[in-house]
Amino acid sequence: MSSEVLDRGLVMDAVRVTEIAAIAAWKLVGRGDEIAADQAAVDAMRTALNDLNIDGQIVIGEGERDEAPMLYIGEKVGKGKGPKIDIALDPLEGTTLTAKAMANALTVMAWAPKGSLLNAPDTYMDKIACGPGYPEGVIDLDKSPAENIQALAAAKGVEPTEITVCVLDRPRHTEIIAQVRAVGARVHLITDGDVAGVMNAADPTTGVDLYLGQGGAPEGVLACAALKCVGGQFQGRLVFRSHDEKARAARVGITDFDKKYNLHEMVRADAIFAATGVTNGALLDGVRLEGGFVHTHTLVMNSATRTVREVRMKRPV
Ligand code: FBP
Repeated sequence: MSSEVLDRGLVMDAVRVTEIAAIAAWKLVGRGDEIAADQAAVDAMRTALNDLNIDGQIVIGEGERDEAPMLYIGEKVGKGKGPKIDIALDPLEGTTLTAKAMANALTVMAWAPKGSLLNAPDTYMDKIACGPGYPEGVIDLDKSPAENIQALAAAKGVEPTEITVCVLDRPRHTEIIAQVRAVGARVHLITDGDVAGVMNAADPTTGVDLYLGQGGAPEGVLACAALKCVGGQFQGRLVFRSHDEKARAARVGITDFDKKYNLHEMVRADAIFAATGVTNGALLDGVRLEGGFVHTHTLVMNSATRTVREVRMKRPV
C-alpha cells in the first residue's frame, strides 16, 4: 500500500519543507523568543506544504483547532491533488534550544499513507526505545530500568556499565536516573528534544544505547517514523494528568487509555521522515550563513526502501 502512495519524488518535497522551516527558525536563534521562533517555522512549513501536489492532513501538529490557527490537527494541506497522506510535524522541535542558541534544535516531519499514523493527543507519553539488531522484545516499558539495561547489555554482549541511557533532564525523571546509575549504566541527559534523543539510540555513532522517560506523545509518533526507517524498537504509553487530557485523547479516537503501543502500532505503514538542523547537534549541523549563501543539513529517510540520505543545500541568501 505504502510504496504506491508514497512516491519517491515525495522524498525531496519533504526535504524542501523542513529546510524552509529551519531557515525561518534560524533567523530567531538566540533571540530569546520561543514563540516567535516557533511561529516562523510554522508559517514557513505551512506555506511550503500548501505548494505541494499532495492531499495531506495534519495528524500530529501544533494542537487542536481552537488553540492553533495553523497546522492544527485535522487541517488539510497541499493542493488537494495527489497522494492522500497523513502528516506528523513539529515545525520546531526545541523551541527553547532555538531561543537560547543551544544545540540540537530541529524541524521535523513524517509522511505516511492516510490512516496509518497514530493520532496521538498532545499529552505526555512514557517511552522506551533502542536501536536495531536486538531480539524483538529485548526492552519492555513495563520492566524496570535495571531489568531493561541488563537485558540490553546481555543482548549486546557487554556489561551494564557499558550501556548509555538518554533521558530528558526533568525532575520527573529523578527516580529513573537514580535507577540507571544504580545498575552501573551511564546517563546521557538532554535538556530538550526527545525525537533526536530516541533517534540517537538507533545511531551507534552517538554512543547512546537506550532512551527512557516521559516526553510529548506527538514527538513519540515522529520518533517512531524515524525508527521505522532505520530499525529499532519503541514502546510508548499515553500519560494523562487530567480529565481534560483524557478528553483530548477521546477526541482523536483513543479508546484504550492504558494501551502500550509499539513502533508498528504508532506508524502502521511505510513512512518518509525528514529533519533539518536549526542549531548544530549530534544528528545534524545547524543552518549556517557563509559567503552570501545559507547552508542547511537535512536527514531524509524512506522506510519503504530503507534509504537514508543526508542532503546539504546551499542557496544565495
Ligand atoms: P518544544 O520544542 O515544543 O519546546 O518541545 C521540546 C521537548 O523537549 C520535546 O522534545 C519533548 O517531548 C517535550 O518537550 C518534553 O516536554 P517538557 O518540556 O514539558 O518536559
